[in-house]
Amino acid sequence: HRPINCEPLKELVRTVPDFPKPGILFYDITTLLKDKTGFAEMIDALAAHYLDRDVDLVLGIEARGFIFGPALAYRLNAGFVPVRKPRKLPAPTARVTYDLEYGTDTLEIHLDAIEPGQNVVLVDDLLATGGTMEATVKLVQQLGGHIAGLGFAVELDFLKGRDKFPDYDVFSLLHYS
Ligand code: PRP
Repeated sequence: HRPINCEPLKELVRTVPDFPKPGILFYDITTLLKDKTGFAEMIDALAAHYLDRDVDLVLGIEARGFIFGPALAYRLNAGFVPVRKPRKLPAPTARVTYDLEYGTDTLEIHLDAIEPGQNVVLVDDLLATGGTMEATVKLVQQLGGHIAGLGFAVELDFLKGRDKFPDYDVFSLLHYS
C-alpha cells in the first residue's frame, strides 16, 4: 500500500488564534471532518498504514479519539475499545493518573477490554506533548496488549511528543511545525 499524501487536507483545517487561551493557535479539524471527501481520505490514509498489521483492536481516547477510532476499526475489521475519563466505565477498570501543566488527569479502561497478546492500535486526534498517549500506553501494557502503533490525525512537531515513544511506530496524518 502506497502512503497517501494528506498535505492537501490541511486546507480544510481551520486555525483559530488564542484558543483555548491567549497565544495558542488551535488547529480545528471540525471543518475537515464535515467534508465528506476529507473525512474519508483521512480514515483511508490511517487504514492504509495499518492494513498489513493484523490489527485486533483499535483503541480510542476520550473524547476526540472517539471520532477516528471507530471509523478506523470498521475499516480494519477490528474491534473498538474506549479509553475513558474516570467513573464512566461500568465494569472493573485499570486506571492511570498523569501530570498536566496544572494538576493531573486520569484515564480508565475495562480490565477485560484487551486479551494478552492482542494487536492494538491506539488512536487520538492530536499528538501534542504526548502525555495523554503515554498514559494510555501504560494502560495497554498493564493489560498485556501488543501495541501495533500509535496513530494521530494531527501532530504538533515542535512539542516533540513522539520522543516519548522511541519503541513504537508513531504515525500522524498532518504535521505542524
Ligand atoms: C487533547 C487531545 C489529546 C490531548 C493531546 O485532549 O484530544 O487527547 O489533548 O495532548 P497531549 O499530547 O499534550 O497529551 P483534551 O485534554 O483537550 O481532552 P478532550 O479530548 O476530552 O477534549
